Amino acid sequence: MFSHLLVPVDGSHMSLKAAEAALKIARDHDGRVTLIHVARRFSVPDAVRAYLRDEHLEGEPLYDIDAATRRVIEDIHREARDTGLKKIETVFREGRPARTIVEYADHHRVGAIILGARGLGDPEGDLLGSVSHKVANLAHCTVIVVR
Ligand SMILES: Nc1ncnc2c1ncn2[C@@H]1O[C@H](COP(=O)(O)OP(=O)(O)O)[C@@H](O)[C@H]1O
Ligand SMILES: [Mg+2]
Repeated sequence: MFSHLLVPVDGSHMSLKAAEAALKIARDHDGRVTLIHVARRFSVPDAVRAYLRDEHLEGEPLYDIDAATRRVIEDIHREARDTGLKKIETVFREGRPARTIVEYADHHRVGAIILGARGLGDPEGDLLGSVSHKVANLAHCTVIVVR
């Protein structure tokens, strides 16, 4: 269950705590960790997409990863390195977060998804955010929610 852990990171404090829990579990079980960040799809006009396709620029990312999120991801990598965990990687995707996270887990033999209860949204008294709620409902693997 713990040989491949997927940690969705949105840059929030709770996603960082989820990553720290995952690093510890991976070290204890000789597992590996994949961090995933899902950027929302930019609304790019069809004409621009066609231009990018014609100019063979399709592979260029049409999204921007926010600097704070990049920093959190770099910090997690540094902590992994400093504590001797070599099997860590980050993937960036664009699309709808919950669905994209669950699809990644389905296709990459993920044993457990470890994510924060809440993220960067307005707390509003809910115990779970919409992404953690949807992932817990849709995932086919174990889901660990960190608070
Ligand atoms: N865009 C995203 N990419 C990757 N992980 C995400 C993303 N958004 C949320 N998460 C994960 O889901 C957890 C809960 O966030 P979310 O459900 O969005 O709560 P909130 O409504 O407070 O923002 C975060 O701690 C993080 O682990
Ligand atoms: Mg959110």
